[in-house]
Amino acid sequence: MCGITGYIGHKEAYPIIINGLKRLEYRGYDSAGIILNENGIFKLRKTKGKVSDLEVKCAKLNSKATVGMGHTRWATHGVPSDVNSHPHISNNGRIALIHNGIIENYGTLKIMLTSKGYVFKSETDTEVLVNLIQFMQETQKVDLFTAIRYALNEVIGAYAIAVMEVEQPEEIIVARLSSPLAIGIGENEYFIASDASPFVEFTKEAVYLEDGEMAAITLEGVDIHKIKDNAKVNPIIQELKLNLEEIEKGGYDHFMLKEIHEQPKSIMDTMRGRLLVEEGVIQMSGIWDHQEKFFNAERIIIISCGTSWHAALIGEYLIEDLARIPVEVEYASEFRYRNPIITDRDIVIAISQSGETADTLAALKLAKEKGAFIYGICNVVDSSIARLTDAGSYTHAGPEIGVASTKAFTAQLAVLSMIAIKLAKHRGTISKERFTSLITELETIPDKVEKVIRNTEEQVKEIALLYSRTNNFLYLGRGYNYPIALEGALKLKEISYIHAEGYPAAEMKHGPIALIDNNMPVVVIAPKTLHYDKIVSNIQEINSRKGKVIAIVTENDIQVRSMVSQAIEIPDVSECLTPILASVPLQLLAYYIAILRGANVDQPRNLAKSVTVE
Ligand code: M6R
Repeated sequence: MCGITGYIGHKEAYPIIINGLKRLEYRGYDSAGIILNENGIFKLRKTKGKVSDLEVKCAKLNSKATVGMGHTRWATHGVPSDVNSHPHISNNGRIALIHNGIIENYGTLKIMLTSKGYVFKSETDTEVLVNLIQFMQETQKVDLFTAIRYALNEVIGAYAIAVMEVEQPEEIIVARLSSPLAIGIGENEYFIASDASPFVEFTKEAVYLEDGEMAAITLEGVDIHKIKDNAKVNPIIQELKLNLEEIEKGGYDHFMLKEIHEQPKSIMDTMRGRLLVEEGVIQMSGIWDHQEKFFNAERIIIISCGTSWHAALIGEYLIEDLARIPVEVEYASEFRYRNPIITDRDIVIAISQSGETADTLAALKLAKEKGAFIYGICNVVDSSIARLTDAGSYTHAGPEIGVASTKAFTAQLAVLSMIAIKLAKHRGTISKERFTSLITELETIPDKVEKVIRNTEEQVKEIALLYSRTNNFLYLGRGYNYPIALEGALKLKEISYIHAEGYPAAEMKHGPIALIDNNMPVVVIAPKTLHYDKIVSNIQEINSRKGKVIAIVTENDIQVRSMVSQAIEIPDVSECLTPILASVPLQLLAYYIAILRGANVDQPRNLAKSVTVE
């Protein structure tokens, strides 16, 4: 978690850093801080709260400094407070540090430093690291770069750090291990950030630091070395694909609403160049280049977290149903610690919007160590997971900034659909006719999503009004739409703080049915699919207990409409594609309920967009 950014050049650093922090707030927003080096004097401001609170604190800062760095925090060690906010300063007042990640052995290091007379003001692991750097500098009699290198070689954990020394106003030193760090290359100016969004309007060129690398950034350039042995590394400059419009709200009240509305385009972008209906092919080089492995796979394991895990579950339904390959889906956090059986005959697929989720990354490393072929489905290009995998398919959903994942999820479903249909074709598990009909239908999905948004948004607003004061929600679905019940419940709870649970509809009678009374809204995903009659029976069971049913139904479904309090229609599609359409009104429902409850939908409490800690 946490976002870090910095600037060194000839412009005033303060506005660049503050704007950069605003763009990084999706990574954490419980406290923020900035430090500027004004002619050899540190100017430090930090505060509990958001970047806007930091701006208030900086009202009288009045700095012309051209070098500085800033941090927006998602608390791990120590509560959100002024004192725990970054930057942290070493005991001698000379070194400042900002950090994204976790220093796992900070306790041992803190004891050692305390025994040497160091004192700590905060509860953070970061303050330990900055003092370890001071300790190395003083005991080893080395310059800052070497002291940082020595200190990092003592550290266990994950980090992206940026360090400034008060006597070196023209240098920022950065390093990374398992947390991202990009260096923007401008004309006689350099930017650092957790992702490229803080500097996209200044430069289109960036260097992404690799794990285990550190760099000294001065006005003369970027000097990269390996942390372990100081070996020099030649920087690889990449061209940024990011546009400013993509990371702005574009007239919407919230990023989440903008991202929900972007889905017709993001799904289309994800399928562009891959789904070639006229030629009758799905072109996915990641699969094609490893066709032997995929077409003959005995087992696929999909690992992920949160919403991406829900996409993985749908991936399981898709791949098993269409391509007839056994699939297991695991929470990355469980997989990595339970000594899983993995062999070199396994394909392990990681799904991650950010490509930085610590648990997914660690689970993937484990799978790789055990010899599995590892495949990534990521949204963020060049993210850690994308770079670790043997091959992969990007979801081209564009930057997703709202903490609640929406367009990345439907893009993941589009990729998984294409993979499953492609594998099915090549393994001969579906007929040619079915293949043609599925890809023809898949091509219509962006238009259908557009239609769902157009036709349901006003209705969903009205439904939200009816239920915004409710304390509990149940979501039910069967088959392909069971994971959509989980996802609908997750969306609601994470942004509105209403308790919501998702269940396979048939499981209701094994416990959750006890919760149903006339105060319990039950969202039932009930399109006309294989399980239609069964789900109709489930709705009857809810009605008999006076629960209030909000149903997602196939358009013109008179039967369910007559049985429920509210029916939200989605277009008729093959069952395996219904999850994409059914998820959209549930995203809108969560959004409008959260708005009515006055919640901050883009920055829900206690959450952050990318979870780079365990
Ligand atoms: O970046 P990832 O897809 O790996 O993130 C996984 C989860 O942290 C993420 O999906 C989270 O559950 C979202 N807040 C859900 O909206």
